[in-house]
Amino acid sequence: MERTYIGDAGAHVGETILFKGWIDVRRDQGKLVFFDFRDMTGYIQGVILPNRAAEMAEAVKDARPESVVAVEGIINKRPERNVQADKQNGDIELEITALTILNKAEPLPFEINVDTKEVGEESRLKHRYLDLRSARMQRNMRKRDEVQKYVRDFLHDQKFIEVETPILTKSTPEGARDYVVPSRLYPNHFYALPQSPQQYKQLLMTGGVERYFQFAKCMRDEDGRGDRQPEFTQLDMEMSFVDREAVMQMNEALLINIVQKLFPEKKIQEIPFPRISYKDAMEQYGNDRPDIRNDKEDPNSLAFCWVIDFPFFESTSKSDNPDAQGEWTYTHNPFSRPIEEHMSNLMNKEAVGSILTTQYDIVLNGFEIGGGSIRNHSFEALSKVFELLGHSVETIESDFGHMLQAFKLGTPPHGGIAWGFDRLMMLLLNEPNIREVMAFPKTGEGKDPMMSAPSTISEKQVEELHIVLKKPKQ
Ligand code: AMO
Repeated sequence: MERTYIGDAGAHVGETILFKGWIDVRRDQGKLVFFDFRDMTGYIQGVILPNRAAEMAEAVKDARPESVVAVEGIINKRPERNVQADKQNGDIELEITALTILNKAEPLPFEINVDTKEVGEESRLKHRYLDLRSARMQRNMRKRDEVQKYVRDFLHDQKFIEVETPILTKSTPEGARDYVVPSRLYPNHFYALPQSPQQYKQLLMTGGVERYFQFAKCMRDEDGRGDRQPEFTQLDMEMSFVDREAVMQMNEALLINIVQKLFPEKKIQEIPFPRISYKDAMEQYGNDRPDIRNDKEDPNSLAFCWVIDFPFFESTSKSDNPDAQGEWTYTHNPFSRPIEEHMSNLMNKEAVGSILTTQYDIVLNGFEIGGGSIRNHSFEALSKVFELLGHSVETIESDFGHMLQAFKLGTPPHGGIAWGFDRLMMLLLNEPNIREVMAFPKTGEGKDPMMSAPSTISEKQVEELHIVLKKPKQ
């Protein structure tokens, strides 16, 4: 017999069908044994009637909750008094005729048919495969997939293509520490894991892609927080021949559509999204990711805003003359383009501290959920930025030579953005941290207790990688 999904059971009243899935709950009530069965499409109640108890006794003995079963039976309408209108399949019941255990479950380390948020994190992550079975985690994974599919379809309709970029790469300046991977073939040389695909996506513009996006894994070696993981996902995109307005409007339209189509219970506070300058945000809210919600008690309120007009450079020096070369650092991204009116200041290295960039951040309920900019695609202007940052000619050549070279070989004007996709999902799903919306996150201390990562490696591996291990401090 072919398997029927539990979610389709209602269409099979009076028929004998076969389900495959898990025993969610077992209730022994005198001569009757009740089960709730579960598969990826939902729940249904089943019952073993007394006339079958004897023939099924052997199978039922081991039918513990969370065991995986194949179960055959007849779908019956429930008598009116037993109908549970608020429950999925609450008007029908499976009269079990055969039950086979495909994998018997021992008692679980923690209960999963409750909200597992109360369970200790170490234990939840050690047995993440169990945690993922719980209703909330199933909802989170499935909603995340729905949003990803929606985004992919939306962007494809707008002529974007998804392009994968390397994980083994070279350091790119996003401001955090790199994870590095020693090279076996090149002693004393290392790959870096990408903090973002920033340089690749810009070079895809040189490569004639024009409209790129990617759900990109990014790795940053920084301390964990509720909204920060060492490894996270960006919805990364880049477009050629656009200005700031075009990128912001396209992203705003996508965000509004996601909310209205997939989270209709949510209310966006203001459309179009308000725009706040960095200066005003700092003055009025004391930070650059203002929570502008009128009603912070309402879990369905989504207050998006854009923060724009960030300073490009920040002084690193206490001296009176910070205009001097080498005493500046960038606030966001060295590849950003200043706003048009300030381009000549950059070229003449004038009033450097007041040069504004085309950077735009998208903020939701007090979280920065994305950021991007129009890029500096002119060779001369980008060289000027690196000079101001105090890079020597040799460093510019070794670290960014490929970018500068590309910008001399026909690179279109371009700009883009990256969303912190986990953060967006956390807020849309009303979760308190991004671990709840990732299938296999790390603990707050950056560990994976299920795989036991990070872990030591064999002496042979150490040898092959040409590295010498320090004895850990006692
Ligand atoms: P940025 O560094 O601002 O920009 O990153 C974009 C967005 O990614 C999210 N984010 C994180 N989410 C979870 N854990 C982390 N450790 C983490 N770090 C950042 C934030 C942030 O807004 N290449 C540029 C984008 C561009 O200019 O197009 C970049 O990576 O929500």
